[in-house]
Amino acid sequence: MRIAGRLASEVLDYIAPFVQPGVTTEALDKLCHDYMVNVQGCIPAPLNYCPPGYSPYPKSICTSVNHQVCHGVPGAKVLKSGDIVNIDITVIKDGYHGDTSRMFCVGPPSVAARRLCEVTHQCLWQGIEQVAPGKTLGDIGHAIQKHAEANGFSVVREFCGHGIGKVFHEEPQVLHYGRPGTGLQLSAGMTFTIEPMINAGRPEIRELADGWTIVTKDHSLSAQWEHTILVTPSGFEVLTVSEASPDWSRLHGAAEARVG
Ligand code: MF3
Ligand code: CO
Ligand code: CO
Repeated sequence: MRIAGRLASEVLDYIAPFVQPGVTTEALDKLCHDYMVNVQGCIPAPLNYCPPGYSPYPKSICTSVNHQVCHGVPGAKVLKSGDIVNIDITVIKDGYHGDTSRMFCVGPPSVAARRLCEVTHQCLWQGIEQVAPGKTLGDIGHAIQKHAEANGFSVVREFCGHGIGKVFHEEPQVLHYGRPGTGLQLSAGMTFTIEPMINAGRPEIRELADGWTIVTKDHSLSAQWEHTILVTPSGFEVLTVSEASPDWSRLHGAAEARVG
């Protein structure tokens, strides 16, 4: 899981310089696909992924732009200055999954867009900091919800983090809202994602006709960040880290990470 996590994060490091005005999301998909397959020797988990009730996912990554919440399908869309885009990477290496996403700003962002991306990153880390044996999933959800709503934003309810390992999406569901002390108790050795989707406006979403892309109902901006986390005896370990993964403490203001 450490190897898969690092590889997923390294795909984001690799693609970052290509996220520029004028690039299409399908070009980003092709670059990532080729990197995962030819350089890393990984399988892109999204490609042909087909949960019950869905059609097979047609691409190797998800690119969710502006008011797209998640599962944006790469295509002919040209990124322009001022856009924000979530790139979500899931690799399979030696049978294990690593799942991570970041927000990227295309050219200089508006003040509102930058703040949404930063607060959403902080929400992810507020959740991560709750992770330790004996804590609960409700503690994670509550920390995320509290920080989002204190900043005037809303939490998407329909999608959640998930257990992950040899299977892409498994139990438990990791909700990004909730009440402290409720829900499943965490224990060392569990691996799951935390991946809050935070809207600048109302929380409601809608699915596009492609059967995958999720957008905000009110067309407000949406942001998401994701890490794959291991519960350790003393707290947590973030598995989706790499050379260039963002220095969250700078954005977050926390003293230090409890790692390992
Ligand atoms: N990577 C997404 C997640 O965080 C899932 C994408 S499923 C896909 O769980 F089929 F859309 F790729
Ligand atoms: Co995930
Ligand atoms: Co993901």
